[in-house]
Amino acid sequence: MNEITVFPPATVANVVCGFDCLGFALDDPVDAMTLRLTDEKGVRITHLDDYGLPADPERNIAGVALLAMLDAIHHETGFELEITKKIKPGSGVGSSSASAVGAVVAADKLLNERFSRLELAEFAMRGEQVASAGRHADNVAPCLYGGFTLVRSVDPLDIVELEFPEIAVTVIHPQIEVKTADARRMLPAEIPLKSGVRAWSNVGALVAALAKGDLELLARSLEDAIVEPVRKTLIPHFDAVKTESLRAGALGGGISGSGPSIFMLSENQSTARRVAAAMDAVYAESGIDFNIYVTKINSEGVKFAGAEI
Ligand code: HSE
Repeated sequence: MNEITVFPPATVANVVCGFDCLGFALDDPVDAMTLRLTDEKGVRITHLDDYGLPADPERNIAGVALLAMLDAIHHETGFELEITKKIKPGSGVGSSSASAVGAVVAADKLLNERFSRLELAEFAMRGEQVASAGRHADNVAPCLYGGFTLVRSVDPLDIVELEFPEIAVTVIHPQIEVKTADARRMLPAEIPLKSGVRAWSNVGALVAALAKGDLELLARSLEDAIVEPVRKTLIPHFDAVKTESLRAGALGGGISGSGPSIFMLSENQSTARRVAAAMDAVYAESGIDFNIYVTKINSEGVKFAGAEI
């Protein structure tokens, strides 16, 4: 095989209480990436969208991830990559991770699956670091593994796949850009022990709620007093979206990754659609463009052309 097309999914990181450790993959939106093996060494990138992302592989997230992989195989081949991004950069649903993960999963297939998933996650994180100026894998892990994941440690990388019930997801993406690196700089370097206790209690409860399918416990665990109060100041109408979504029946939710997207979890698709209508009503008068997705958790991670998407 000399060429492959993959569809890496958007992801929601943090999941309110699990800053830098929890994340899940979405069915929609997904990027499209076509990768070819070339005799010419290095990585050549073409963008088939209008986002103006760099084509220089050393400044491109997918390029950096592929160059890390090429270093590991002593540049025995080169790659040519075409990227069509549907996941808008800076939207808070793991756009950079999708680029990095899609590239390394495609490359590994063309190289006859020589790397473990953890090794692929490491390559992808090298790319992700370009965007976020921090080492975290809470978008990379669910994009690569699918489903709901917990990153127990980044050094060494330790990824736990979580059990989860079927739940619906609504995401509103206001068309403003929040750079992850900026949203990380705002956060406190230290937190009071009491806040830590509350956070890790919620993470434990959320993991248990997912495994048991206990949606009431899940709703109670979606709480955060460390990151959300600081970052929500970057997102117009955050409180109104949350209040109206809960009124419409959402279990809970909050900032997706570093924002500006806001996600809400619901018991089923019809509630998720009511939540979408509530979000729409809040933003309709705001003068800010927005997209809303009603979707579900993608349990496979990256999909391949030829498979149903
Ligand atoms: N955990 C990261 C952050 C995710 O919140 O900064 C970025 O998408």
